[in-house]
Amino acid sequence: MNILVIGGGGREHALCWKLRQSAKVDRLFCAPGNAGIAQVAECVSLDPGNAAVVEFAQTNDIGLVVIGPEQPLVDGLADALRAAGIRAFGPSAAAARLEGSKGFTKSLCARANIPTAAFARFDSADAAREYVAAHDLPVVIKADGLAAGKGVVIATTAAEAGAALDTMAGPVVIEAFLTGPEASLFVLCDGTDLLSLGSAQDYKRVGDGDTGPNTGGMGAVAPAPALTAVLESRALTEIVAPTVAAMAAMGTPFTGVLFAGLMLTPTGPQLIEYNVRFGDPECEVLMLRLESDPLDLLVATCDGTLAAARPVWRDDTAVTVVMAAENYPGLPVTGTVIAGIDAAEATGAVVFHAGTARRDDGAVIATGGRVLAVTAIGADVGEARAAAYAGVDKIDWPGGFCRRDIGGE
Ligand code: AMP
Ligand code: GLY
Repeated sequence: MNILVIGGGGREHALCWKLRQSAKVDRLFCAPGNAGIAQVAECVSLDPGNAAVVEFAQTNDIGLVVIGPEQPLVDGLADALRAAGIRAFGPSAAAARLEGSKGFTKSLCARANIPTAAFARFDSADAAREYVAAHDLPVVIKADGLAAGKGVVIATTAAEAGAALDTMAGPVVIEAFLTGPEASLFVLCDGTDLLSLGSAQDYKRVGDGDTGPNTGGMGAVAPAPALTAVLESRALTEIVAPTVAAMAAMGTPFTGVLFAGLMLTPTGPQLIEYNVRFGDPECEVLMLRLESDPLDLLVATCDGTLAAARPVWRDDTAVTVVMAAENYPGLPVTGTVIAGIDAAEATGAVVFHAGTARRDDGAVIATGGRVLAVTAIGADVGEARAAAYAGVDKIDWPGGFCRRDIGGE
């Protein structure tokens, strides 16, 4: 089968890397891809919009399009592909509202009795201000829309809440503040049946010890140490299964991978948010643990045959360390040269590219904020962490930095 992967980050490199190992994959394309993806797939640049993807898929006899990021899903790319008779991994625009609209998800949780923080949604900041004045702090203030992880403010004082509301245009959701360790759970859904891909723990803050601003993710560990088998099973029955049932009952069944961000509170798992795609860098650690053919799982998800899927996972723990360009998550310094990637891979680590390009002279340069995800497995988190940092330490990139505490205590 010929495959097209949409996206150009570390997540898409991990998907392409794993798909390349499948004997069933013939030609593998990625749009737009990056310098690392180009080593395992044919990178193509497509015009923006759904029509160009549909046309490319038809012209190149693509049997499956795997949509990596959320924006094309929210924009209806999966719908456009399916309407043209092309198999697409990822939800419809209607089902992608689980990520695209926090208000939609919160209402669904309320109707289906899914544990999540108490909330209220406001069309304007002024109405939200009165609500904040009448409630206990801290409160959590979120923009209602795709915000790339940067639209959340935890306000511990009235002044902080006011300042946050001043900067937010459009509708906002205000939530009660939950406490506990966080974990992310990844579940394939074919509209009816579910298949857990296991969990991961993300490191969202830019600095060691969880300091500094939020990022798209500076590293990950899989499985998430805090999500025991009992808690995972509770999250599946109390949160994910009723969500999938509610989506089907509404006539907008969810197909693809549902990424549940969970807070493990003293009373049990509660939903913080849904994403309707693989996480980045969580996908990198999940793919290293997967032993089975990835194509079988993706196709079963699209074709409604997940009930029969029996994926095999390594027992090992996987750790990924993100290397980011100087000044990330502010405007990153790009164009700097990265050396040592081969030396890093010689240690046994896998270096996924998240934001790179190859210069005419062959040098790999940084093109974005998050640039590499150096990933390794080990018998336990300590071994995996040591193996990942052994790779990191071979990367010769003065323009980059990483956290040193991924997978630490
Ligand atoms: P979100 O974009 O909704 O995933 O939120 C980003 C981060 O904000 C989460 O990973 C949590 O660390 C934090 N957060 C979000 N909602 C809450 C909440 N209700 N209580 C405490 N922390 C939260
Ligand atoms: N690492 C978080 C995300 O992909 O949304």
